[in-house]
Amino acid sequence: MTNSTQNTAKKVHNFYAGPSILFPKTFDESVDAIHNFAGTGLSILEISHRSKEFVEVMENARQIVKDLLNIPSEYHVLYLGGGASTQFMMTAYNLLEKKAAYLETGKWAANAIKEAKIFGEVVLAGSSADKNYNYIPKNIIIPEDADYFHYTSNNTIYGTQIRETLKSPVPMVCDMSSDIMSRRVDVSKYALIYAGAQKTWDLQVPRLLSSEKIFWAKFPEKFQQC
Ligand SMILES: Cc1ncc(COP(=O)(O)O)c(C=O)c1O
Repeated sequence: MTNSTQNTAKKVHNFYAGPSILFPKTFDESVDAIHNFAGTGLSILEISHRSKEFVEVMENARQIVKDLLNIPSEYHVLYLGGGASTQFMMTAYNLLEKKAAYLETGKWAANAIKEAKIFGEVVLAGSSADKNYNYIPKNIIIPEDADYFHYTSNNTIYGTQIRETLKSPVPMVCDMSSDIMSRRVDVSKYALIYAGAQKTWDLQVPRLLSSEKIFWAKFPEKFQQC
């Protein structure tokens, strides 16, 4: 086991909006895995992504998220490359067939809208752009014929947050990049949630995305490779 004392002795206070400090044990286990992973005699960086040992790492990572967020069994947890900005595009690419409803509550929501417009019509279910996003619109109108409704639960730059789960007549998609795991969420109310794992969980793993069967059933050919 590697000794992390030297590492922790250098620690300073961390006021990053995203990543925070890690347990010394996490460093120790990471260093061990880099030298000799799970007794294989090889580094985790040297073994196949299809090896039994690495597949187990990913299975554990998915299960931990399922347990912590109490994610129902019919949901899938995916770790994907790219930031939330990639999910702005991927969500629309996969789910927007004709029209989608978006709540515009900040820069990130506006960026998501911009990407979605490449793939189809975007209807604003509400917007606070008129006051530089300093409030959450009260009157949210979601067309019943939209493919999905997208909102941002925490508007990182503006400090506004939607704490309650919104109600939607169509499948609901939420960008929880900056408040995932900060409170309990009823995942079953959402069709899809995405968040930057590296940003809020403090782990340098790429992305989380959980997707309900409804979308797998609706767009099977698009999800086959996931
Ligand atoms: C709510 C929200 N969505 C999306 C993003 C963009 O994330 P990324 O930099 O991973 O593309 C951020 C980044 O701060 C964010 O706070």
